[in-house]
This record gives sequence, C-alpha cells and structure tokens, in this order.
Amino acid sequence: MLIEQFASGDSYSTPDSLYSLPRHRWYVIKEAFSPELFNLAISTSSTAKGDLVIDPFCGSGTLPLTSSFLGYRSIGVEVNPFLAFVARTKLSVCNPQSLERAALSILPSIRCGTPSPLEGLSTFCRRRESDKWLFNRSVLRSFEGGWQASESVSGPAKNIVRLMLVRAAMENCNAVADGKCLRYRKEWKDNPYGRQDFLDSFDSWVVKARDDLKDLPIHGSASIINGDARKVLSSLKPKCVSLCVTSPPYLNSFDYSDVYRPETFLIKAVHSNKDLRKVRLASVRSHVQVKWPKPKLNRFGSLYNQTRKQLATKEGGFWDPRIPQMVQAYFEDMHGVLKDLLAVSSKKSRVWLIVSTSAYAGVEIPVDMILAQIGERVGWFLQEIATLRDLRASGQHAIRVPGEDVQPFHLRESAVILSAEPLRKGSTKPRDARSSNQ
Ligand SMILES: C[S@@+](CC[C@H](N)C(=O)[O-])C[C@H]1O[C@@H](n2cnc3c(N)ncnc32)[C@H](O)[C@@H]1O
Repeated sequence: MLIEQFASGDSYSTPDSLYSLPRHRWYVIKEAFSPELFNLAISTSSTAKGDLVIDPFCGSGTLPLTSSFLGYRSIGVEVNPFLAFVARTKLSVCNPQSLERAALSILPSIRCGTPSPLEGLSTFCRRRESDKWLFNRSVLRSFEGGWQASESVSGPAKNIVRLMLVRAAMENCNAVADGKCLRYRKEWKDNPYGRQDFLDSFDSWVVKARDDLKDLPIHGSASIINGDARKVLSSLKPKCVSLCVTSPPYLNSFDYSDVYRPETFLIKAVHSNKDLRKVRLASVRSHVQVKWPKPKLNRFGSLYNQTRKQLATKEGGFWDPRIPQMVQAYFEDMHGVLKDLLAVSSKKSRVWLIVSTSAYAGVEIPVDMILAQIGERVGWFLQEIATLRDLRASGQHAIRVPGEDVQPFHLRESAVILSAEPLRKGSTKPRDARSSNQ
C-alpha cells in the first residue's frame, strides 16, 4: 500500500531536492513537486520505457525532465509562457562548448548595457514618484544588453543563455517570489544590486549549466506545449497516455501569472497587463484576479454538495464575494480535465493528482476527496487518497466571520490516485485521507 511509503517522511510534494539537481536547478519554483514523486508513481505503475507520460500542469517541467532522464516519452502542458520556457529550456540538447561560446559572445553587451523597455513600466524600475521598484536600472540594462545580443545566438544555446540572464536578473531583483506574491527583500535599499552582481550571477549559472549539460544528457523525448490544459488534452490521440502525474493549481486563490510576472515581462512573452490578462483567463479558475466566465456545472458528488451548502451559510464572510463561485468553477475545470484525461489514457493508465485541501470563511474544502468523487463520476476508479503532509492554513484561509470563533485549519496535501481500470482483488482499497491522518 502506498500510504506506508508516504509515511516515511519524504518531501514528495516539495521542491527541496530540485535546488541541487542538475538541470532542475536552473530554475526552481516553490510550487514544484519532487522527482521522487514521479519515481514512486512510475515504480507502482505498469508504465514501460518508451511509454508516454503526461503532466497537464507541468510548471517548471519536473515531470518532463525526470521522465526524459529515465527514457520515457512525455508531454508537459503549461499555460504560463515563462514557465513553459523554463520547462523547455531545461530539456535542451546542447553541446556544452556551444553554451560557453554563446555566453562569451554576449558578455560585452551585458557590460555595456542598453535601455530596457521595462524602465517606464509600473514598478519595474525606479521612477521619480516611486518608493519601491523591482530592479535597479543597471541590472535591468545589463539584462537587456544580454537579451538583445542573444538574438544572434543560434541553436539551443540561445534559450539556455536567456534563462541564465533571467536567473541573474531575479537573483538581483529587489523582491523575491514568496508563494502568493512578491516580497521585498529586507534592507534592499541598503545593498543595491548593480552590474557586477548581475555579471557574477550570470557567470556562475552558465558554469553550472555547462557542467549539467556534460553530466546529464537527455534520453527520452519530451514536448512542452504552452497552452491551456482544458483545451489541449482533447486534441491528443485517444488512449496514448500511460501515466499522468500532475499538480494542478491548488484551490488557494494564488495567481501564478502574478507571482511570475517579472519573468514573463523580462522574456517579452507579454508586453502589457492586457497580455497578462489573457494568460489569467486561460488559467484554471483557482483565483479571483480576473473576471472569468461563470461556471455552469454543479453535479460533482455528495461532498461537493455538502461543501456548497456550508459555504452558502457564510455569505458576506468571504474576503471576496466570488469565492463560492470560484470553488464551483475550479471543480468544473477539473471535471473537464479528468474527463479529457480519461479519453487519452490507455486501459492500464493511472492519474496521480497532487492537491491541497482549502478553507474559506471557516469552511474546510476537502479538495482531494471531491476530486476523487469527480474522477469516479467521469469514469476513473479510485485507487487511493494518500496524505503527503499536513499544512497550516494561512490567515486568508482562516479568515474570521464577524462574531464567529474560527480556529485555523490544518490543511493537508494529498495524492489522489485514480486508475482507468477497476481495482483487481487484493489491490488497495480507497482510503479517506482524513483517517490516514490520525
Ligand atoms: C502547482 S503548479 C505545477 C508545478 C509543477 N508540478 C512543477 O514541478 O514545476 C500548477 C501549474 O499549473 C499552471 N496552470 C494553471 N492553469 C493552467 C491551465 N489551464 N493549463 C495549463 N497549465 C495551467 C500554472 O501556471 C502552474 O504553473
């Protein structure tokens, strides 16, 4: 039974191991899961080398990269253009010498710097009236000099030097991504980042990337699709996927396009907030940062009905009145994704959904169990819900309803494991993640 394996305390759902792993370390995001999770899913499935595995919410590309090292074919879908760029770049097949040559060729332009179009945009750079700005001008200009010079680099080295330019910019940014938002570093005004800091970061990352290219070649073939999983899945060949391991956005109202906004502008994938809005609209409806179409479906099973009724009693107690609608929209999106996934999955296929429970206005939302019920409704068979770790609810989740004494919830991260074929005798029975918590 997988639950015992999870109980060993390994951080399956955290990116901790990625910071030191070749290629993965080129850009690590806090929301990533670990390669060990994919290894566990593979080892307990009937997936064979050469089979197709998929992550419809691949973020920084942990699954496509891990599966490529092991010789599987993979597809990663990611709506955010910057994260899709990260995932694709980590998979580059590139000669280490070409990377060195490319980096050397752009160094003079980094040193000279060139004015950046971002200097006049929102808080990217200091302006007369601003008291906070993300980049000091010399950092932004070094980046822009390098970026423009990289136009003349050909082959896969181009994307790698570009990713290292972004790394260098973000290491010398006055704010850091901190889950839901960007947080300004302590005393950032007293330790101003400049051109030399940028060059040092760039140089050290090019050296690491060069070493990784030497040490860890890619074996499998992977394709990263920059698009909306809610649309992309239905365009794949039926029955071609043998395993899906994925961590969809959590129902926690985080807007990834906001968290990775500086990087998305830096790589020129968007030029205005209007462009960014398009990315938000193509994202799963797990936040209220944009006005998305209202959900229509509401038949998601008994646990959803129970949750919906509890939420209805808290009207007026939400930090945003659209929260109950967001909850419904989230499950509508996941309903579509699970249905489309089944159509492209082979008979022996499994899906591992890594999700977290949530809470709004004192109402706990058992996202893992609701998704399990939705999975069953669209034709999957529930194999197991395994708790990966306990989480403490943020202040936002534990928000108080006036006059009500609300205790902060202990939320959990779980793996919901669904199978395309019925469970055979002797295989694991469905487990309630809450009972495995006790
Ligand atoms: C929890 S993160 C996944 C992290 C990933 N497992 C990794 O290891 O980096 C969820 C991802 O889903 C993406 N996403 C949100 N809506 C999407 C959609 N409609 N289609 C594809 N990706 C989407 C977000 O941009 C985010 O990168």
